Amino acid sequence: MIAMSYYTKWGMIIGSPIFQRFLRENYAKGLSDLHLLKRENPFFQSDFSSLLCGVGNAETARSFIEFVTNRNPNAHIFIIDLGTEQIDAVKKLVKHNFGKYDIKAQQMNALDLTTWLKRSSLDWIETDGFLEFFSPPQLQKLLKIWHTLLKKDGYITIREPASDNIWESVIDVLRVWMAKWWLGVRLYVYSLTDLKRIFHDSGFLFKTFPTKVPTFRRFTLVKSVL
Ligand SMILES: C[S@@+](CC[C@H](N)C(=O)[O-])C[C@H]1O[C@@H](n2cnc3c(N)ncnc32)[C@H](O)[C@@H]1O
Repeated sequence: MIAMSYYTKWGMIIGSPIFQRFLRENYAKGLSDLHLLKRENPFFQSDFSSLLCGVGNAETARSFIEFVTNRNPNAHIFIIDLGTEQIDAVKKLVKHNFGKYDIKAQQMNALDLTTWLKRSSLDWIETDGFLEFFSPPQLQKLLKIWHTLLKKDGYITIREPASDNIWESVIDVLRVWMAKWWLGVRLYVYSLTDLKRIFHDSGFLFKTFPTKVPTFRRFTLVKSVL
């Protein structure tokens, strides 16, 4: 039997058209949340810069790049992931399909982002199912880094498991067990209450809404402490 990598196995889920439609819908919802947080749409700025943090899959990179470049063809786009396969696939996609845009893909740990990107340089940070890869102290560090990298009026969009009752916390524990057994990755469980406290303590204002996926909530964050 051929052993499949994390990239291949998880790619069957997140690379699917249905998941990519889910992402595109949520990118648009995140952008429209900005008026609830009393912020302007930053896509019109000439130096608009965005980061896809933990790309996961080349199809996700495609959805993200199309969403950004349809709104601002001069945007600067940064894409990172810890995984070699993820970044190799993104580099190939960019070379063959998006060569005319300013897109940089880099294999790196998100906890080292300040060695690659300038402080106060990003208008939008986007990711999905990412925070659960970080232990509580690492998550605190990640949010501090994102806060440093965001421009004053920048924003972050995330979809993340965030259980809000006993039934949902059982689903989340099962999901973490499945991830270890099927994908070989260690995930951490955060409840909705945990995430709200961590975002608040890290200097963010936010809005959160449920998504169509059980326990998965979307969050749109902006800086409260500038
Ligand atoms: C659930 S996937 C992301 C899904 C993707 N954002 C999407 O919307 O389809 C999580 C990704 O984060 C990456 N990752 C995990 N820890 C990381 C870290 N510390 N720094 C950078 N990437 C990391 C993993 O390699 C994996 O590809």
